[in-house]
Amino acid sequence: MKFVSAQEIYRDPASRKGLPAWTYNNDELTQLEMEQLFLRHWRFVCHVSDIPNPGDYQCLEMADERAVVVRDQYEQVRAFHNVCRHRASRVVGEDKGHCGKAFICPFHGWSYNLDGTLKNIPKADSFPPIDKQEFGLKPLDCEVWHGMIFIRFGGTGSSIAELFAEAAEEIGLYRIEDMKPLDEPYQYKFNLDWKAVLDIDNEGYHVPIGHPELFDLVGASYTDQPLEGGLSRACGVINQRKHRLERNREYVATLPEESYLPESHQQLWIYWGLFPGFVLTLFPDQIEIYQIYPTGNQQSVMAGVTYALPDERAEMQKARELNRDINMDVGDEDIQLIEWAAAGMRSSAFDGVLLSDLELGVASFQNQLREILPVVSLDEKPATGSLKQVNDSMLAKDKVAAVS
Ligand code: FES
Ligand SMILES: [Fe+2]
Repeated sequence: MKFVSAQEIYRDPASRKGLPAWTYNNDELTQLEMEQLFLRHWRFVCHVSDIPNPGDYQCLEMADERAVVVRDQYEQVRAFHNVCRHRASRVVGEDKGHCGKAFICPFHGWSYNLDGTLKNIPKADSFPPIDKQEFGLKPLDCEVWHGMIFIRFGGTGSSIAELFAEAAEEIGLYRIEDMKPLDEPYQYKFNLDWKAVLDIDNEGYHVPIGHPELFDLVGASYTDQPLEGGLSRACGVINQRKHRLERNREYVATLPEESYLPESHQQLWIYWGLFPGFVLTLFPDQIEIYQIYPTGNQQSVMAGVTYALPDERAEMQKARELNRDINMDVGDEDIQLIEWAAAGMRSSAFDGVLLSDLELGVASFQNQLREILPVVSLDEKPATGSLKQVNDSMLAKDKVAAVS
C-alpha cells in the first residue's frame, strides 16, 4: 500500500496549525461543505442484506436532497431521488420499509415501478399527454461494493471500487457481502461542527490517554496510515500479553480460535476511512460502518451500524457483545473529548492547534479539504455573504497557478 509520509503531509509547515477556529463555526462554510463535499462524494446508505427482497427500500437524506435505494423485481439495487415528478412529495415517507411492486406517492397516488419508470397516474386524462419514460423517478449514481450500497447525489470521478482499490484485498477477506445486520443502527447528534467530530476520529495519538481500555487491548501498536486519494487506514493489534482490564481479558478469551479470517487478520482492529467522513471498521468478530456529516451549522451526526457473518457459537455471541460494550465506552470517551476540544476552540485563548507526526490523519483530511475549499486556509473569515465567491476565486487562482 502507498502510504503518504509525514514530510509530504506537512509539506506546507503551516498545516501543522490545523484549520482556523472560524471554520468550525460558520454557516456559509457548512452550506458549502454540504454542497461541495457531501453532495458530490459517495455516501453509504445500507448493506444489501438491509434490502433483501424486491420492493425493500432504504432512504438517505443530505441537505435538501433525499435518496431512496430499492431492490427491483430483478434483484438489482437501484437508487433514485425520493421526489415525485408530479408535485415533489416524497414517494416513500419512511426511512426504510417495503413498497411492494411499486412506489405509490402518498400525495395524489402517482405510482412508479421499482426500476423508476412511471407506472400509473390517477385520472390520467385530466393531464396533457405524458411520456411515461420521461416522467420516471430521477436516477442517482449507485454502486454496490462488497455488499455495501453507496450513492452519489452529484459530482463525477472515481467509483467506490477505484477509491478503495488499495484496500480491496484486505476488505475482501471479511466476506462483507455475506454479512447480516447485527444491532440496530445508532446515531449520535452533536451541537458542534462535523469537523470537530472527525478531527478526533482521524488520529490515534489520543488512544493511550483518552481510551485506557482500548489502549490496554491494542496497546502501542495502534497506527494511522493515510494513503493517497482520500483513503486512510488505522490499525491496532490485540496485545498478546495479559490484559490489565477484565473485560479485555474476557473479550480475547471468548474470541473463537476458529475463524474464517487468515491468521494475519485474526487479532487486528482495522479502521478504513474515506474522505470526507466514511469509516469501515473491521474486527475479527464483526464490522462497523459509520459516517460523520453535517446537518447544519453547529449540527452534526455520527451514524453507524454493525454487520456480521451468521455465527451461532455462544463464544462468538459473547465476543460480539463485549466488543460492542468496549466500543460504546470508547464512543462515550470520544464524545466528551470532542465536546471539550470544540468548546476550547470557541475560547478567546484559542490560537490554532499543533499537530504531531502521530496525527497525520487529521492533517491529511485537512489538506484534502483545503484543496476543495481553499477558503478554509484563510486566517480570517470572509465577510458575511461572500464566502462562496471568495472560495471560487481562490479555486480559479489555484487552477491558473497549476497550468502556468
Ligand atoms: S406529488 Fe406525488 S402524486 Fe402528487
Ligand atoms: Fe477516540
